Amino acid sequence: MCGIVGAIADRDVVPVLIEGLKRLEYRGYDSAGIAVVDGSDIRRVRRTGRVAEMEGAAGSEGFSATLGIGHTRWATHGGVTESNAHPHVSHGVALVHNGIIENHEQQRERLMAMGYAFESQTDTEVIAHLIHHYLQGGDDLLGALQRAVKELHGAYALAVVSRKEPGRMVCARMGCPLLIGLGEGENFVASDVSAILQATRRVIFLEEGDTAEVRRDGVQVFDGDDQPVLREEHLSDVSLSSLELGPYRHFMQKEIHEQPRALGDTMEAIIDAGVFEPTLFGKDAEAVLRGIEGVQILACGTSFYSGSVARYWIEAISGLPCSVEIASEYRYRTAVANPKHLVVTISQSGETLDTMEALKYAKSLGHEHTLSICNVPESAIPRASKLVFYTRAGAEIGVASTKAFTTQLVGLFALAATLAKLNGRLSEEKEAEYIEALRHLPGSVQHALNLEPQIALWSESFTPRHHALFLGRGVHYPIALEGALKLKEISYIHAEAYPAGELKHGPLALVDDAMPVVVIAPNDSLLEKVKSNMQEVRARGGELFVFTDADSNFSESEGVHVIRTPRHVGVLSPIVHTIPVQLLAYHTALARGTDVDKPRNLAKSVTVE
Ligand code: G6P
Repeated sequence: MCGIVGAIADRDVVPVLIEGLKRLEYRGYDSAGIAVVDGSDIRRVRRTGRVAEMEGAAGSEGFSATLGIGHTRWATHGGVTESNAHPHVSHGVALVHNGIIENHEQQRERLMAMGYAFESQTDTEVIAHLIHHYLQGGDDLLGALQRAVKELHGAYALAVVSRKEPGRMVCARMGCPLLIGLGEGENFVASDVSAILQATRRVIFLEEGDTAEVRRDGVQVFDGDDQPVLREEHLSDVSLSSLELGPYRHFMQKEIHEQPRALGDTMEAIIDAGVFEPTLFGKDAEAVLRGIEGVQILACGTSFYSGSVARYWIEAISGLPCSVEIASEYRYRTAVANPKHLVVTISQSGETLDTMEALKYAKSLGHEHTLSICNVPESAIPRASKLVFYTRAGAEIGVASTKAFTTQLVGLFALAATLAKLNGRLSEEKEAEYIEALRHLPGSVQHALNLEPQIALWSESFTPRHHALFLGRGVHYPIALEGALKLKEISYIHAEAYPAGELKHGPLALVDDAMPVVVIAPNDSLLEKVKSNMQEVRARGGELFVFTDADSNFSESEGVHVIRTPRHVGVLSPIVHTIPVQLLAYHTALARGTDVDKPRNLAKSVTVE
């Protein structure tokens, strides 16, 4: 979704801004722009479409400056047009914005009554005029920004420059991430560290309500009361290589193949300890987890499906009741809170607005015990949670989540086992067995990855189809859901998932020879049930594509295709069975020629409702 980058230096910052915007492309966007302070002028270039088009325009117009801001926009208020693209300018003040201003209509009316003319349909333009209004009243740029943000309701990350103040840029944060990058004689702002890694790893994360002044030779942060405040400096561990494609065709393909490594890194502390320790979730976690009587999981998209797997594990292994709910639903219903339940939010990005708001709502209902499973250190959701488990998937660039999902499952499995242990429900033998299963997991995932050529062949059967059904049972039902989501996200084939036992209650009506049916059918206690459900499909002419594992006694026959992973991996089987459905979606999308890493209409990190 929208991205911000800004730079002030002694060198030309235009290449820094363009490179930063390219690094933000993965988040999903539909237009891009930069504004620079050039002498006593603001120069701006904006384009719909890709950053490369905007870069071409900036090049041909000879853009060069030592202070500037840039933006990738994902349309919310107002269509995808050049005039709605950021930066927005008001009388020499240029500004970029992530987030949504809820009271923009009232502000717009008020500013129009003062004589301001609007060029766009965005909520953002009011902020530019508001800042100009306060500059007119005698404030300097920082003071004008500090006054303006107090009149805004909603969420924002802002970076602002003025032609009258070429020595600084100012910025503000509320509800959307923003950080400052510290260089030598040059400084940066960005909504995501990947935008500035080319220049520096030293970062300061702004907190809610903060504003800041960024000069070449220093930075000053102010809290929500406009008082100077010190915010800790961090060294980012995001590696530049995680942002490079290497030998792969797409980031999604790269990220699917990185899973053995990502899983190994995520479970490193567990394997090293050889036991499940509450400290995996933070140093004070034992006190919190020991008294827990139930678990409420909140998440969106793929993260919701990892939560759905976790429900099976938590109830079966720890004996605690567990509910899982889509965050955007939970936040708007009258929920009954049990303060002895642990609220677990799952988010790759740590900044999904619905998940963040669901967490705030849970807290407002009296939930004090909160845990975040997240892939981005220092992002908003873990910062708002008492406990945290960081997955160590590394930066995930493809919009369709892959390695984040399987590493979340490791964190959630560890939670189930840890809760079981604290409840006296985990014998030493069982604990050793689980640790052993984790230890073998990267290898089993690698075996599943080795099935890629067979799965690529299967994808030829899906490429011309308009619909597909995915079936699973028990803990593998969420994997069917995840498989259907992956396929629809990147290949645009309509795909639905059902618990296989539910087939006869409706979806069976859809089955004919034009409906491929993917079945996740490992050799577990539900296998015989799943086999009966498959007969129901076959009897109606449906073609079956079965992912299973060793000893499941499936044989290929007309209309029944089988791909087998080498061995059944027990309780972690959902993780291994995720790999084939990811690869099936990837190869089908590849054959259909879609934009695999940036599927239409979707964004990596959804910071709006
Ligand atoms: C977007 C992404 C999905 C992701 C979901 C939740 O919709 O396109 O891939 O699963 O957000 O994101 P989160 O960062 O909270 O896991």
